[in-house]
Amino acid sequence: MNGPLMKGAGQKDFLDLALFETATLDAILEEAIARKKARAGRAHGMADDDCPLQGRVLAMIFDKQSTRTRISFDIAMRQLGGTTLMLTGNEMQLAREETIADTARVLSRYVDAVMIRLLDHEMVQELADNATIPVINGLTRNSHPCQVMADVMTFEERKGSIRGRTIAWCGDGNNVLVSWVHAAVKFGFALRVASPPELTVRRAVRDWAAQSGSDITFGTDADAAVEGADCVVTDTWVSMGDEDTTRRHNLLKAYQIDARRMARAKNDAIFMHCLPAHRGEEVTNDVIDGPQSAVFDEAENRLHVQKAILKWCLR
Ligand code: CP
Ligand code: NVA
Repeated sequence: MNGPLMKGAGQKDFLDLALFETATLDAILEEAIARKKARAGRAHGMADDDCPLQGRVLAMIFDKQSTRTRISFDIAMRQLGGTTLMLTGNEMQLAREETIADTARVLSRYVDAVMIRLLDHEMVQELADNATIPVINGLTRNSHPCQVMADVMTFEERKGSIRGRTIAWCGDGNNVLVSWVHAAVKFGFALRVASPPELTVRRAVRDWAAQSGSDITFGTDADAAVEGADCVVTDTWVSMGDEDTTRRHNLLKAYQIDARRMARAKNDAIFMHCLPAHRGEEVTNDVIDGPQSAVFDEAENRLHVQKAILKWCLR
């Protein structure tokens, strides 16, 4: 049987923020905050009191490197009472041309959900279309929705509701930025993007943003983008799968976040970066290690928000 299949009762994929109702994303964030509060002070290895995913298994497939995504999903499942299987595309028959659709059908007979990091977004969609279990996007070339859910949570912990606030992005028009664009529409904040024209986000995303009626601008001037912002965000100049390293460094060096540029944002603005950071490239040490930096809260919040995502997918 080909084409989209029925998931289990109530079960859903988590592929892109653009596909969600705001109320669902708000509910996921609310649950993440509640779960974080409920286990404050507990050892990481201790399960949550309710263990809502007891007996459930999450398969994690990584075709690319990861520190945060891999560890935070693993710990998330343990704290929810479930377990994980860690797989790489290379050691599966996928590497010997078994189709992604057949892989989806087989995994659906063994595990309760799949989290996958694969650059090819269409293949992740195909996996989801052919699986009868939830599929979670753990980063593709197109987007990184779990990261930006953690980022919105981090912003709101520090600064209150993100609705109506201004976020500035300086740098590459990459996967993380795309999820920020989706978030700006869904959560109702202004997004000021500054990228070199050669590395701006792809047209389909700009068109989607334009038709949403949201306050999102795509420009090239980094100083103008950060002026008066509540939060300044950047990311690596060279993402996984990018090969034109020297060209990217040359195009992006004018977009570095240093103390001078950070000072153009509001006095109490925060700095965010999904990590891993390339210190001295997209951000200077004084900014990423300075008092406005929220980067390790973002990393921690991956754990809390993904617990809420897993629970939502498997409900
Ligand atoms: N931010 C993020 O996804 O980090 P990893 O690549 O370490 O998973
Ligand atoms: N844009 C980066 C994010 C890493 C978490 C990449 O895709 O490599």
